[in-house]
Amino acid sequence: MKTNYMKKKFIFKSICFIIMLCLLIIIEKKIKYSNFITALHQTDDAEQGDVLHYDTAAKQDASQFSVSLSGFYFDNPTETKQIGRTISITDSNSNIFYSINYPEIGIPYIDEVLRNDAQSELSKFLSGASGYTADNDSMRIGLTVDYCAYLTGDSLISIVFNIIYDSPEYTNPLQAVRTHTFLLCTGREVKISTLLSGDYLKYLSDSVKGYLASDPALSQNMDDSAFLEKYEPNEDNFKSFAFSKSGLTLYFDPYTIAPGEYGIISIPINSADILPFIIYDPFKESNIPYTPPAETTPPVIQSGIDPSKPMVALTFDDGPRAESTNRILDVLENYNCHATFFVVGYNLSKYPDTVKRAAQMNCDIGNHSFGHAKLSTLNKKGIKAQFSKTNDILKKLIDKKAQFVRTPYGQTGNILKHVNYPVILWNVDTLDWKTLNAKKVIKAATKNIKDGDIILMHDIYNSTAEAVETIVPKLISQGFQIVSISELFEYRNVTPKKHKVYFNLEP
Ligand code: NI
Repeated sequence: MKTNYMKKKFIFKSICFIIMLCLLIIIEKKIKYSNFITALHQTDDAEQGDVLHYDTAAKQDASQFSVSLSGFYFDNPTETKQIGRTISITDSNSNIFYSINYPEIGIPYIDEVLRNDAQSELSKFLSGASGYTADNDSMRIGLTVDYCAYLTGDSLISIVFNIIYDSPEYTNPLQAVRTHTFLLCTGREVKISTLLSGDYLKYLSDSVKGYLASDPALSQNMDDSAFLEKYEPNEDNFKSFAFSKSGLTLYFDPYTIAPGEYGIISIPINSADILPFIIYDPFKESNIPYTPPAETTPPVIQSGIDPSKPMVALTFDDGPRAESTNRILDVLENYNCHATFFVVGYNLSKYPDTVKRAAQMNCDIGNHSFGHAKLSTLNKKGIKAQFSKTNDILKKLIDKKAQFVRTPYGQTGNILKHVNYPVILWNVDTLDWKTLNAKKVIKAATKNIKDGDIILMHDIYNSTAEAVETIVPKLISQGFQIVSISELFEYRNVTPKKHKVYFNLEP
């Protein structure tokens, strides 16, 4: 009897302990992510224009946001506003009215693009409306901007702005659509040609044709040559698009592919149909488990560095990202050589193990800012914060701050006086982010390479990781030693200087 009682007591105690532990973990996470959000806020130094004034109700709502693991704002996510919190600017008087909604995602560079877009729409409207007087309420002119925000996997966000002008001059309000799609790991805005390849333009064109033909009203005007031209297989015709979990949607302004009375036309293409054309697959990007490649015996292995022999520095920006960065690290490990990773602070919290592995392998970890911000848009404090935040995270993760900086977009000029580190740029640009093609990257990184060159790549792309598997043995077989930036300085006997820009280090 007694043992039974003891057993029950033990089980009860264990359950209590586990519940307490779970509560502690949850509380800890909440604190961590709210700190992260504060950090993102402080990074964002851009100022609001004078015409803007926040709707106070919206501002209060905004304080209720919660945040996901990835550190974005989620403000009551809905079907059409899956990500971000809404910033509203509204005003109304006897002559004009406007209501602008745009999202704030929590990533400074993206937020800047979206804010500028909404702001410029408003400025345009206000300058057009200056001096306008309405005789009565129905003669008022107005602007309405609203948006949809879609998150696909953990790699892509698309924002679709819907813009409506009201004026007594028009029987129907004027409408327009404008879209932005960003690759989250870089914050870079991407075109449809960055995400699709092969004969995709013909496929998109055929999809539009099929859509129009299936609608009894729209199909009547299909033969109009002015409309036909607007969905020919030409990249310019497919500038307005958005990805979402369900697939790709193409958008067309009124009057482009059908008579104006049909308004904005949106044509959905489901993910299974578009998948064969996708280069950077956003649908499967989420949480890919990393599997190391099978063991192979490398043909050549780099041993100790000989300072009298040619050397070259491979540098990788915008990471880390678990899958592709680890694949590159595998290659470096196989050939016993070091490269330099200019990391984005924002990505570090997502892939801490990847940067730890790179540091343990004696690769250089450089600082590529916290949020891949355009530094020229920030003030002194903002610029410094971009680098100090990343360094604080690095200190915690790898017990070492970055010694070198690479400014986002390779920006130089006035901003450099606020960058208290040697700035490492490059003299060989592989354009790997643009081509996403391993063969082209291999060619760019191995043709006409000279002693002391610094080669730019991005470790966030699988195509780049694939290229590195060839680049490293090829460069070694050409007689180059592959070194990190600090090794390059060491063996060239150069002391790196703060605020100074280095493109390469010739012997
Ligand atoms: Ni970059």
